[in-house]
Amino acid sequence: MGMKERIGEIHEAMVKELLGATSTQNLEDIRVRLLGKKGELTALLRGMGQLSPDERPKAGQMINEARAKLTEMLEKKAEEIKAREQAEALERETIDVTQPAQLPSLGGAHPINMVMDELIECFTGMGFEVLEGPEVELDHYNFELMNIPKNHPARDAQDTFYVDDNIVLRTHTSPMQARAMLTRKPPIRVICPGRVYRADEVDATHSPVFHQMEGLVIDKDVNMADLRGTLNAFAEKLYGKGITTRFRPSFFPFTEPSTEVDLTCSSCHGKGCRICKGTGWIEVLGGGMVNPKVLEMCGIDSSVYSGFAFGIGLERITMLRYGISDMRLLYEGDVRFLSQFRK
Ligand code: DAH
Repeated sequence: MGMKERIGEIHEAMVKELLGATSTQNLEDIRVRLLGKKGELTALLRGMGQLSPDERPKAGQMINEARAKLTEMLEKKAEEIKAREQAEALERETIDVTQPAQLPSLGGAHPINMVMDELIECFTGMGFEVLEGPEVELDHYNFELMNIPKNHPARDAQDTFYVDDNIVLRTHTSPMQARAMLTRKPPIRVICPGRVYRADEVDATHSPVFHQMEGLVIDKDVNMADLRGTLNAFAEKLYGKGITTRFRPSFFPFTEPSTEVDLTCSSCHGKGCRICKGTGWIEVLGGGMVNPKVLEMCGIDSSVYSGFAFGIGLERITMLRYGISDMRLLYEGDVRFLSQFRK
């Protein structure tokens, strides 16, 4: 086969391939195969040494012409494909602005925080101020200033996590009473919400970490009736009209007298039901008149001032409010559970 025919053949084959090219990548493969170092035209050029000297210029010219034509065609085709690919990409990536928006899934407040916020709103409405303090607390505040000396049997009631001999994870929010009295002058009206810790086994009603809210009022002539009135207002605000309190005598080292406080069962309104075990009452907090010993230890003159204090367990209120029967649900962070409280 003569040089001319060979070139014609390669040219024709290449034109065919070029016309059939469908993508940029496809085209690049063709280019390498036909024009590249190992391409067929290149091979022909290389083989020109075997031609006679008078054939060579003619052959060279034909090869170069073919090469130039093909290159031009290739470039044209490349542009064409690129334009098409771009158009397709635009088409593919069009945003359908009429589609309903996909809202990012939002978190929500934890039910304990929701209850905490409600209580805070209730008490700040009565003139209380919110005061927060350390969860890693000195034994001195957690126990000593709360009238629970070292080796006192009252310490046994609270299974304490000790960090060292003098530092504990606070077992209640009551140390905030001392912190408030030591840093403020009466009249004092504070609530102190936060986490507390006890070395309890986890079960449906116990957790080593839970939440309390301490309340403290110090002023002249504060008495037990003020505590009652405050807690009655709180009960009504939280659970509605007709919900009141019942005080039962109790003992706490930091209050004297001390009381355990029940609220009217909000699910049966006092008639007696499964939730209140037929009593019509639900125990939710402890309280009393601040022990004069505590006042004195915290630098308050007990002959001038008196005060009341109370401590509310937030888990219990949260569980009652939402009908949650297992405390563990509150800590597992299961979104299926938590999302039910989203507002
Ligand atoms: N600190 C007590 C507890 O954790 C609760 C308590 C009882 C707080 C009586 C008080 C109080 O302020 O007066 O069990």
